[in-house]
Amino acid sequence: MKSVQYDGAIYSVQNHESVLDALLRGGADVSFSCRKGSCQTCLLRAVEGEPGPDAQKGLRQELVDSAHFMPCVCHPDEDMVIAQPDLSQMFMPAMLSERTQLSPSVTRLRIEPARDLNWTPGQYINLRRDDGLMRSYSIASIAEVDYFLEVHVRRVDDGQMSRWIHDELAVGDFFEVQGPLGACTYREEFDGRPLILVGTGTGIAPLYGITRDALRHDHEGEIWVYHGGRTMDDLYLHAELGELADEHDNLHYVPCLSGDDVPEGIFAGRVTDRVFKEDHPDAAGHVLYLCGNPDMVYDARYYAIGAGVARADVLADPFESAYPYMPDDDAKLEAIAPDPELWEALDKGPKLRAILQDFYEATYEDPRLSPFFHNVTMQRAISKQYAFLAEVFSGEDNYFGLNPFNAHHWMIISDELFDYREELFEASVRKHGLPEHLVRRWMAFQELFRREIVKSTQRGLIMNGVEHKKEGFSVEEILIATICDGCMGEINEGDTARMHKRTGQLFCTECAATSATNEVGAPA
Ligand SMILES: Cc1cc2nc3c(=O)[nH]c(=O)nc-3n(C[C@H](O)[C@H](O)[C@H](O)COP(=O)(O)OP(=O)(O)OC[C@H]3O[C@@H](n4cnc5c(N)ncnc54)[C@H](O)[C@@H]3O)c2cc1C
Ligand code: FES
Repeated sequence: MKSVQYDGAIYSVQNHESVLDALLRGGADVSFSCRKGSCQTCLLRAVEGEPGPDAQKGLRQELVDSAHFMPCVCHPDEDMVIAQPDLSQMFMPAMLSERTQLSPSVTRLRIEPARDLNWTPGQYINLRRDDGLMRSYSIASIAEVDYFLEVHVRRVDDGQMSRWIHDELAVGDFFEVQGPLGACTYREEFDGRPLILVGTGTGIAPLYGITRDALRHDHEGEIWVYHGGRTMDDLYLHAELGELADEHDNLHYVPCLSGDDVPEGIFAGRVTDRVFKEDHPDAAGHVLYLCGNPDMVYDARYYAIGAGVARADVLADPFESAYPYMPDDDAKLEAIAPDPELWEALDKGPKLRAILQDFYEATYEDPRLSPFFHNVTMQRAISKQYAFLAEVFSGEDNYFGLNPFNAHHWMIISDELFDYREELFEASVRKHGLPEHLVRRWMAFQELFRREIVKSTQRGLIMNGVEHKKEGFSVEEILIATICDGCMGEINEGDTARMHKRTGQLFCTECAATSATNEVGAPA
């Protein structure tokens, strides 16, 4: 076992762990995304000790020379001292070489970075202005073929960066870029498999690049490209994609419009309806790419899991705004209809409890998941999850715990860790012999809360639409009876309780005095 010193604390790295795992297990606030050495989001710098070649694979030479490495794939052979990345190394100057208006609201930028930059279409860059304003844009071009780094920017009427790009940025101007980042790219190992690419708005930019990349690699499977919008102006690559499809028998381009007056030859309706309700209701074995409007991306993930797509085969870049997502779990939960068929198949409860028993036994043994249950008894975790799922599936009102966002608001959980947890959950469900269509439906339901749970920084609790600061206690009036997180006794409707703002724990008046030393928190 090796140790890693970071930000004034020492973390032990167990033999099976990466440095990132050890940091997260120890509660360090570090960014990460793919956890497999492709997106570079987790980049750190070695001050002492060698990170090893695997942890530097694919990094620009300047970053390697300055000892930057990716902790998610770093398994050190010696103790290390590590630090934040050197920000001056992360950005490089770049010049706008060409710009073309592709539609009234979308402009294409062709960018020349000051140093050699190797990217793969589907990755993204962070573009930073002189005053520090920074936004992400996905790459549409292929480094080996196109020379320029190309991005397509949609104008957001009250948006700071996109308005500046559209109205002020001129050819010859300099700015800074960071990247390439992200792992939503074509991989040769996908050759022969059917690909489905779904984008809305400028989400088609990375998908266009990925499609050209797949064709350039003589991809042998079928390739379906879906572009959704409201009006014809939104389908700004209609001609290019149509031509590409004419040239390649295995490429199918399907434009979709959800507005009025849809011209002939264009599907009238939502792009996700066309993909999953009409063309691919069973998409097991397909690789799925999703880019653009986050609502579409998360909707499509839900349908995809229901259609049997493996979680590892979904590559997604939701174009999240720079402002934090404000969830409305209550509205989401209210919109979910009970599932009497599934509830019946769970023997109206006992089989659900048995599945959860198996799942939590595996979870409490699991080195990556068990730290989230520090100080929570397994029976309590099972009871909370049982109450939540029983209410959703049966439609009977009996859950009085936190909603999914608030139950996880302080936990840093990547898409990859979410998938890891879901795989374990699905294995427990399958062990109990539910029919395939019910397994898929249940797993799709779980998918509905990914956006509430996955995040790279801690959030505060959200109550009545307001996000509360993360530390300290507040006194709350209890609107629905609940259980004290200290003594497990009932707290009645109308009572007051002390709530820990980070963990969301509630303590009855008797327990309040000891609550600060007794923090718990369990993912739902
Ligand atoms: C990985 C990734 C890839 C992306 N790729 C692309 C791409 O290829 N092309 C593209 O066009 N875009 C892309 N985006 C989106 C892009 O990064 C920007 O979010 C977008 O250009 C808007 O930035 P802006 O500065 O113009 O707008 P902003 O100033 O960020 O405003 C965006 C919206 O937020 C609202 N807003 C303002 N203040 C607040 C506040 N305090 N709280 C909540 N909301 C507020 C504004 O009214 C506006 O509607 C991508 C995003 C990500 C994460
Ligand atoms: S490279 Fe480490 S999280 Fe993606």
